[in-house]
Amino acid sequence: MTDTDNLASRLDTTLPPEIRAFLKTAAAEAAAHGWRLYLVGGAVRDLLLGLPGFDLDLSVEGDAIELARALAASPEDVTVHHRFNTARLRWSAHHIDIARSREETYARPGALPTVRPGSIERDLFRRDFTVNALAVSLNGDWGKLIDPYGGRGDLAERRIRVLHPGSFVDDATRIWRAVRYEQRLGFCIEPATLDLLRRDLPMLRTITADRLRYELECILDEAEPEKVFRRADDLGLLATWHPALTGDEWLENACSRARALTEKPSPEVYLALLAWRLTEVQKEELIASLRLTRHHSRALRDSVRITANLDVLDSVVTPPSRIFHSLHSLVDNALLAARAALDTSIAVGNIERFMIEWRCIAPALTGEDLKRLGVSQGPDIRRVLDELRDLRLDGIIGSPEQEEFLVRDRLGQH
Ligand code: CTP
Repeated sequence: MTDTDNLASRLDTTLPPEIRAFLKTAAAEAAAHGWRLYLVGGAVRDLLLGLPGFDLDLSVEGDAIELARALAASPEDVTVHHRFNTARLRWSAHHIDIARSREETYARPGALPTVRPGSIERDLFRRDFTVNALAVSLNGDWGKLIDPYGGRGDLAERRIRVLHPGSFVDDATRIWRAVRYEQRLGFCIEPATLDLLRRDLPMLRTITADRLRYELECILDEAEPEKVFRRADDLGLLATWHPALTGDEWLENACSRARALTEKPSPEVYLALLAWRLTEVQKEELIASLRLTRHHSRALRDSVRITANLDVLDSVVTPPSRIFHSLHSLVDNALLAARAALDTSIAVGNIERFMIEWRCIAPALTGEDLKRLGVSQGPDIRRVLDELRDLRLDGIIGSPEQEEFLVRDRLGQH
């Protein structure tokens, strides 16, 4: 038996001790019921690749819900889905998904699968790619690798391969997943899988907007989503979201500029960059077609407001108060995206100064001070405070005395 047939030593050395201990406990609990328990999916792939990340998926040839309940510290830590016999267990700081091993059939393309209990081999066969169709036995033979479909070989050859020709028809979201894994892992979608992917692009029409949006969200969470967008554009896949989207060198540069500005740009920043060159109408079409969330939509709509105001932002003579007014109600994700997207240094400089300096500026006088000076309570206070802030921003006044002088002037006291 080679080292890769049995991953026991890898499990022992790579897994954090608390996760290893949890898996041992789970394996013993399952064994007590006479059930076999396996680590499956991405965790096995990443373990073999030596990559960090302990997103645990377990597959049990037995009752997943009962197992999760037996392992939970308290009943609130378990969320169950009776239809698929799956459970999500919150354990310490981790989420662990446990599913009854099962086989699946698809009534029609894009539909949710019909499931029935099945062996681990059948369970692996229903999966998307050979590199994800690997399991590690946790009881019986701790660490034994189950690899019925050549996943280990494909990992070594750095290939993304479907298990059968109907895979993308069953579930066209796998088209996006193929591109995402390929780009994340630096693999290649092997030629036959690529042919199927191209053939089955129209099957994406069978997928609901919510499931498509989920795929988008997964991509936006990647370390370098622009790579996925570029490959998707080359394959004609990006256009299925919106024909005006482009994944090109401009987008690659903009995304790396965003990473230079902040350590981990949020998904909304990447989304705003992806859609940056779309018109307002096209952005609304994208929002509608993928049923984007409020956060996503806000970043897109606010970036429209930035591009619409570019002549104001991109001028050395625009007073800071004017910049303040055009930017203060916009979300940071849109502002950050603008700094990464715009190639006009004046506008970028103005947005930067707004974010770092100008938006922190406030008058020295408070609302209480204004009341004491005789400004009537209510909206007048806000108005005067805003005026004081604007004058400060533009360098017209700078001291509390000047502010007081101005307030008294407005009140006709001079
Ligand atoms: N899976 C699948 N088809 C899908 C979604 C998921 O076959 N459309 C299977 C794959 O075997 C995958 C597992 O379910 O490995 C878990 O799904 P997910 O958590 O999305 O994938 P991971 O492999 O854990 O990927 P990631 O590293 O992106 O979390």
